[in-house]
Amino acid sequence: MTDDAIVIEDLRKNFKDVKVLEGIDLKVERGTVLALLGPNGAGKTTTIRILSTLLQPDDGRAYINGHDVVKDPDAVRASIGLTGQYAAVDELLTGRENLEMMGRLYHLSKADSRTRAEEMLAEFELTDAANRAVKTYSGGMKRRLDVAASLIAAPPILFLDEPTTGLDPRSRLKVWDIVQQLVDAGATIFLTTQYLDEADKLADRIAVLDHGRIIAEGTADELKEKVGKDRLEVTVTKESDFDAALRAVEGAAAQSDPEERRVSVAMEGGVHEVKELLDRLERAGVKIEGLALHKPTLDDVFLHLTGHEAMENDQVTKK
Ligand SMILES: Nc1ncnc2c1ncn2[C@@H]1O[C@H](COP(=O)(O)OP(=O)(O)OP(=O)(O)O)[C@@H](O)[C@H]1O
Ligand SMILES: [Mg+2]
Repeated sequence: MTDDAIVIEDLRKNFKDVKVLEGIDLKVERGTVLALLGPNGAGKTTTIRILSTLLQPDDGRAYINGHDVVKDPDAVRASIGLTGQYAAVDELLTGRENLEMMGRLYHLSKADSRTRAEEMLAEFELTDAANRAVKTYSGGMKRRLDVAASLIAAPPILFLDEPTTGLDPRSRLKVWDIVQQLVDAGATIFLTTQYLDEADKLADRIAVLDHGRIIAEGTADELKEKVGKDRLEVTVTKESDFDAALRAVEGAAAQSDPEERRVSVAMEGGVHEVKELLDRLERAGVKIEGLALHKPTLDDVFLHLTGHEAMENDQVTKK
């Protein structure tokens, strides 16, 4: 067996006359996280549905844990957990009932289902809410339950389709924590996201999907190298200080926006760099009104890689 938990070769899918996947190649090494990054309609969910045997590809191959998704779907299903883009939990059941039912679906015994459900509730901080109907849960709680449900049979490979879209920042961090713990425990994770920072935080490798093709692939650093660095934006208080500010940061790959009284500088290193920059401005007698760190966004990635923004994919390619 190779050390790749997931292998995708020239995967293709059309829906009637709409080309959705136009030949995708990817490999995910065991015990690592791959983030498939792409805007609405790029084909992320379609890819996950094919890999999790819910949808047949038109062409190409995919292997999960060495098993062909088309020829050996049962073996694939036994190796994976899936958290879909939309909640798959039953709103009328309690959190505990949902997890126990999931355990039974995965052929765990009644006793094992109960034990696993209890463990998952504790791990996902849902024990207090375990006996409430899911319809009373917050969005973050539902999402956590959803992820918990996909883990009930402790699968070695996990698919998460936009695990944090629509969550508040705190719930988002919680889901990130959980993903990190799973990886630390040796899981392989294939997740999709529309957020560059999420891919950056969680993934060992990032693949950028656009119009059904992988347009870039690499580590977060490799991708950022292409897209550009974080930028520190300094807004000066007085217009008359603007030129002095520009001179003070000269040589630091600065960009300027005189109308907004803003100078922005590419950040290479860490906090010391910010301090040095502020010191320079202070020595030049420049007063600062605002300071902001601009991290590259998905839009920056797309603008850079494709020349177009990560907009709704409404100009889908026709055959
Ligand atoms: N069952 C289907 N029948 C017809 N078209 C479909 C079907 N499923 C998906 N599509 C189309 O395929 C394209 C890709 O959809 P997909 O759901 O894979 O995108 P996505 O990257 O997951 O988007 P989002 O970020 O909105 O979830 C879209 O244009 C979508 O309308
Ligand atoms: Mg989707």
